[in-house]
Amino acid sequence: MTERSLGNCIACHALPGQTGVRSSFGPSLQGVGSRYSAEQLQQWVVDARQIHPNTLMPPFGNTSGLNRVTTAEPLLSPAQIRLLVTTLAQWR
Ligand code: HEC
Repeated sequence: MTERSLGNCIACHALPGQTGVRSSFGPSLQGVGSRYSAEQLQQWVVDARQIHPNTLMPPFGNTSGLNRVTTAEPLLSPAQIRLLVTTLAQWR
């Protein structure tokens, strides 16, 4: 979540426990585990466009519909996404 070459969630979201500069481009992820089920959290991370078609959140588990991507691989692996969802679900 804080690694620039991976999820880089902090570029857009405030995270619980994070100090210093906080982005408010996207909503704070504080309490996100009580707002969504694990399935919904997974959907947000894999491809937020399926929830909000015009979202500015990058699809971390899907490259379909993207132009000129440098690799055919999604930004995050299924194992990394599972770990993220487990963490997000605990933020209540
Ligand atoms: C480029 C900015 C950007 C990045 C990077 C980003 N997001 Fe988002 N995210 C958004 C925006 C904007 C929204 C609000 C929904 C919308 O406007 O479509 C959002 C919404 C969400 C939501 C739903 C929150 C709610 O309360 O409704 C979750 C969960 C989420 N993001 C998780 C993540 C995670 C985890 C990462 C890192 C892997 C991440 N986001 C990276 C921009 C971003």
